[in-house]
Parts: sequence; C-alpha cells; structure tokens
Amino acid sequence: MPDGFRCRGGELCADGVKLADIAAAVGTPFYVYSAGMIAARYRRFAAAFAPAPPLICFAVKANSNLAVLRLFAALGAGADVVSEGELRRALAAGIPPQRIVFSGVGKSGAELDAALAAGIHQINAESVAELRRLSEATAASGTTARVAIRVNPDVDALTHAKIATGKRENKFGIDIDEAVDAYRFAAALPGIEPVGLAVHIGSQTGGGLGPFAEAFGRLAGLVGELRGLGLAVRRVDLGGGLGIRYHHETPPEPADYARLVLGIFGPLDVEIACEPGRVLVGPAGVLVARVIDVKQGRSRRFVILDAAMNDLLRPALYDAWHDIVPVRLPEAGAVLSPADVVGPVCESGDAFAVARDLPPLAAGDLVALTDAGAYGAVMSSTYNSRLLVPEVLAAGDRYAVVRPRPSYEDLLNMDAVPEWIDDAVSPLEPAPGAA
Ligand code: LLP
Repeated sequence: MPDGFRCRGGELCADGVKLADIAAAVGTPFYVYSAGMIAARYRRFAAAFAPAPPLICFAVKANSNLAVLRLFAALGAGADVVSEGELRRALAAGIPPQRIVFSGVGKSGAELDAALAAGIHQINAESVAELRRLSEATAASGTTARVAIRVNPDVDALTHAKIATGKRENKFGIDIDEAVDAYRFAAALPGIEPVGLAVHIGSQTGGGLGPFAEAFGRLAGLVGELRGLGLAVRRVDLGGGLGIRYHHETPPEPADYARLVLGIFGPLDVEIACEPGRVLVGPAGVLVARVIDVKQGRSRRFVILDAAMNDLLRPALYDAWHDIVPVRLPEAGAVLSPADVVGPVCESGDAFAVARDLPPLAAGDLVALTDAGAYGAVMSSTYNSRLLVPEVLAAGDRYAVVRPRPSYEDLLNMDAVPEWIDDAVSPLEPAPGAA
C-alpha cells in the first residue's frame, strides 16, 4: 500500500483517518487523497534538483480539485494547464500567473485571450497557425505573449499507445525538423516573444530514462542550433511523463531523472520548467468502493462493486492495473482465489480487474483501488446517470469532503426541456422531408 494509506489496527487509513469512517460518513464510492503524501512527493521531486529546483508546474489535468491545487500553491508549485477551465482553477487556487504555463494542441481564441489577460508565464505553441492566431490576439489586447515552441521530437515513449505523444504520427507539437523555421517565424511576429522550447513525450513512459534522454538530447541540440542562428533561447520546458509503479513497472527515481536533466541542460544556462502530474499525485489517492454482491458464476467469481468505469476509467480505457485491497485486512492465512472485479455499468468493459487473486470478499465489504490520485476523479463522468464521484482530502487526523456527491436533483437539473418539446413529435406536423 502506498505510504499515505498504511494500516492501523488492521484497517486501511488515509493519513490518520480510517477509510471505513470516511465511508460511513460520505457513502461510497469516493476518492480520498493524502495531503501528507502529496506534500512529501512534491518535496522529494523538488529536492532532487537541489540546490535550485526548476519551475515545477503541476499538470492540473492529473488532479484538478481546488483543494489539491491549493496544496500545490502552498508548496510553491506552478501549474501546467490545458484549458480555460484549468487556468481558472489554478488561479482560483492561488497559483500565481507567473508560474502557469498553458499547453495543448488546440487552444481556442477565448482561451488564448484568457491566458494573455492573466499574464501567465508562458504559452506553449503547438503550430504555426496557433502562433498566427496568438499574434492577432496580442494585437487586439495590446499584450505580448511569451511563447515556447513545443517540438515533437519523434521519440517513442514506450507507453500505452493512447498516452504516447512524442512520435511524429501523434498530433502534438511542431515536427522537430520544422522547429527552427517556426522559431524564426515566431520571432518575426508582432506581439510574440519566443522564449524557448517545450517537449512532452508521453505519460507513464517506459524504458527507464532512455526516452527522456533521447528527447532531451534532441531538444538541447536544437537550443544550440537556434542560438547559433542568433536567436535567444532562455527556457526549456520538459513536460511530464515520469511514471509510477502501478504493478511491476520500475519507473526512474526523481533523483535519476534530475541528474539526467541537469547533466543535459545544466551547461546550457537555460531556465528549466517541468510539468509532472502523475508522479506527484498518483500514489497519493485511492478510490474506495463497497462490494454490492459477489456472484459465483460457473467458471468465475464476480465481485460487483458500487464503483464503475465512469468513476475510474483507466482500466477500461488503457487496460490499466490498479491494486485492489480490502479495507479491513484479511485474516492471516486467508486463501486467495481469482475474481473479476466489475462495476454495475452496462458494458462488459466495466471491469477493474480480470482473474485477480483476491481474498474472500462479501457484500458490504470495502475495497480500495490504489494509485488513483492521478487521472481518476478528473476523468469521471455521470454515465448510466450515476452521480459524480465525490472527493475527500485527509491531512493528519482530519478530513474534508473537497467535492461533494451531487444529489439526484442536481443531476436532473443539468438538463433543460424546452416548453415546445411535445409539439416536436406532434402527429399533425410531419418532419420536414418526410413523405
Ligand atoms: N504535460 C503535458 C503537455 C501533458 O500532455 C501531460 C499529460 C503532462 C504534462 C503530465 O503527464 P504526467 O506527468 O502526468 O504523466 N489519462 C492518462 C494520461 C494522459 C496524460 C496526458 N498528458 C492516464 O490515465 O494515464
């Protein structure tokens, strides 16, 4: 079990709070995060770069709860945002605009305007067309945009195809061969100040440090090339991607990652920024669910939870592994046997685990799905008209609901039914084009 969820008296806790106590008060399913663990993971990451940590822009997409972002603000972190919504969250949580970078392959005009109005640290431009639109936006608002050109380094991040971003065939960034032209173009555009380069090769990268070394090496080469042409390059933004151990992976340690980064970019005299998400919050959250029923099929044991793919999408979307641990630890010597752990949603893909060795479980038991602090709650939905999953933050022996479970009234009130709706299917008015 990750540190922040260690057991006390035979029961899993979040920081110092029993998960069963939170379940009794909040109901299930819910996410709970350990504030202590988030802080420890952030500090460890920052300390790896001692004496001078880079600008650490937490990737808000990994966990955008305002209370979590507020912790990062208090720790001195910045934010990497990819939408106006994330920008507003980061600002509302008290992250200073001077520590916010805006990434993303398709920023709308309104989003560029919002970034300029907030005066953020940097906008990472992903295409020449975007540079043009940004230049126009600066003219309209009388601002200047500090821009990093996000290059696509054509590096295989050795991760799941759905979360790789650094290969030429991915939609992200400007092809590294075209980066010099793009940088020159940016330098000539009114309102645009090209300040550096950005790269992000993918999330939960495999292959140890190899893919990072390859991508950062190419980026460093490009810094030299641009400077050789007389162009100023003050900053590099190295993206996110440091993985965590969900199952048997052995991701690089922050210290080794930092050594690689400083080894490559230290001699170049550039300001370094990075955008870690998962590594800071992934292990610091669990999804707690209750067993609704156990169904013994002829060939399988099905453990049916009250959490489903709409609450934690990663297993259905990426075949991702999350450990599943009973909240009350099983008796010593309990026999493990395979079970399919599934949710109630009407899709066969709604399974958290297949043939997973688990101790005996009965209706009413609580289980924790681990390493769910990143890309858990943020990817949840109300599919099957299930209520959006709540979030809880634990710190020491305190906890608070940091996103309450909506009511069914809230759910129904999201929709609006026009007063003419019944006429729309009036038998007296055939639809246009109908014979
Ligand atoms: N920077 C950029 C530009 C990104 O696109 C991402 C992630 C990050 C930073 C943060 O990456 P991290 O350090 O968290 O690996 N939903 C998927 C992950 C998709 C991540 C997309 N971009 C999952 O559940 O695994």
